[in-house]
Amino acid sequence: MDIIKGHIAHFPLATATPDADLSIMRDGALVIEGEDIIAMGHANDMVAAYPHAHIHDHSGKWLIPGLIDSHVHYPQTESIAYYGEQLLDWLKKATFPTEQKFADETHARAIAEVFVSQLFRHGTTTALVYSSVHKHACEAIFQAATRYNMALIAGKVCMDRHCPPALQDTAESAQQDSAALIERWHNKGRNLYALTPRFAPTSSAQQLKRLGELAQQYPDVFVQTHLSENKDEIDWVASLYPDADNYLDVYDRAGLVRHRSVFGHALHLSESEWQCLADRDATIAFCPSSNLFLGSGLFDLQRAKRAKVPVTLATDVGAGTGFSMLKTYADGYKVSQLQQAPLSPREGFYMATQSPAAAYNLAQDIGNLNPGSKADIVVLDPQCDELTRLRLGDMAEFDDCWFALSILGTERAVAETWVAGQAVYSRDN
Ligand code: GUN
Ligand code: ZN
Repeated sequence: MDIIKGHIAHFPLATATPDADLSIMRDGALVIEGEDIIAMGHANDMVAAYPHAHIHDHSGKWLIPGLIDSHVHYPQTESIAYYGEQLLDWLKKATFPTEQKFADETHARAIAEVFVSQLFRHGTTTALVYSSVHKHACEAIFQAATRYNMALIAGKVCMDRHCPPALQDTAESAQQDSAALIERWHNKGRNLYALTPRFAPTSSAQQLKRLGELAQQYPDVFVQTHLSENKDEIDWVASLYPDADNYLDVYDRAGLVRHRSVFGHALHLSESEWQCLADRDATIAFCPSSNLFLGSGLFDLQRAKRAKVPVTLATDVGAGTGFSMLKTYADGYKVSQLQQAPLSPREGFYMATQSPAAAYNLAQDIGNLNPGSKADIVVLDPQCDELTRLRLGDMAEFDDCWFALSILGTERAVAETWVAGQAVYSRDN
C-alpha cells in the first residue's frame, strides 16, 4: 500500500461548468492499493488511518489525474517539426515516408517504446493513438502499453487509396485486420480498440462501409478519424464524395458517427455537421498546436459549447509540436484569445482529464482521482525551476500553477507519473 501526499486537484464528476466544479484539497493524500486509488483525504488523517503504507511525500506539489491525449500518431514521433507545409503536402513529404518505415516490425517496436516513455515524461497516461497501416505496428503499441498496464486506445490506420502503394491496404484487409486486432486487444487488460480510417480522402466508400460494419458489430469499440482540418482537404473530399451532404456525412453514411467516435480537428464545420455531431453523441479532439503548426485554422470552441458537443484536448503529434498536454493547453489558450474568448485554466484542465473520460464512458477508471479509479496520477511541481519559483512562490492557487506551468512550458513541471499504482516516470531519477 502507498500514500502520496500533496495538494489534490481534479474534477470528480462530469460538468458543463468546469470553472465552478473543480475540487481542491490542500495538504491531501491519495491512498493506493494495487492498481487502484482506495481513499482520499487530508494527509494527516490518511497517514493515521493507514499506518503501514509506504509514504511518498510530495507536500507542496499538486496531484492531478493522469492526462488524456485524445489524438496522437505514434509513428510520427520521429517526424515532429518538419518545416513549412500545410496538411496535404505535409502528409506527402513528411508523414507517409515516415510511416513506411513501420513495415519493419523491429522499428515499430522501438518507436512504440519511445512513444510510451514520451507520454509518461509529459504526464500523459491515456492516449487515443493512430498506428500506421501495418497490423504488426498496432500490435507493437498495444504490447508496449501492456507492459506498463496503461489504458491505451489505439487502432491500425486504414487507407486503400491516395497514398503510396506501400501504405495501402484494401477494403477487405482493413476489415479483417481490424477485426483480428479487436479480438486480440479490445478490452484485454486496459487496452481498447479504435477503428481508424485515416480520413475520407484515403479511404474508399467501400472501406468506410466495411469499417462501419465493424462499428456496428462491436458497439463499444472507438472510431477515430480526421474531419475538416484544411480547406483544400475539404474541397478534395467534396470532389471525391459528390453525393455526400458534407464532410461528416461521408462518415455518417458509413455508420461511423456515434458514441465513442472521436473526430480530430473539426475546424470548418457547417451547421448541419455540428447538429449531427451532437445528435450522434460524438466527440471532437481539439488539436491547437497542430492547427497552428500546419496553418489549418482556429477551432471554434464557443460554437462547440453551443452545440453541446464534448471537446477534448489533443497533441496530434507529429503535426502537433510535442507531447506535453500542458503546452497544448497553452496553445489552445492562445487560439481562444484570438477569438476573444479565453480558454480558462480549469476548462483546459477539464479537457485533458474528466471531459474525455466522461465522453468515452471511462470515468469509472480514468480522468479523476476518485476512490475506485485506477491510480493514474501526475505530480506537478510548481517549484520546478528558477522561473516557476519566481512566478508562483509556494502558495499559488491551482489555476495559476496549471496556467503558468503550461505557458512557461518546462518539461520539469512533471515530477512523477504513476500508472495503475506504479511510478512509471520520475524526473529526479
Ligand atoms: N489528416 C490525415 N492524416 C493526418 C495526419 O496524420 N495528421 C494530421 N494532422 N491530419 C491528418
Ligand atoms: Zn492527426
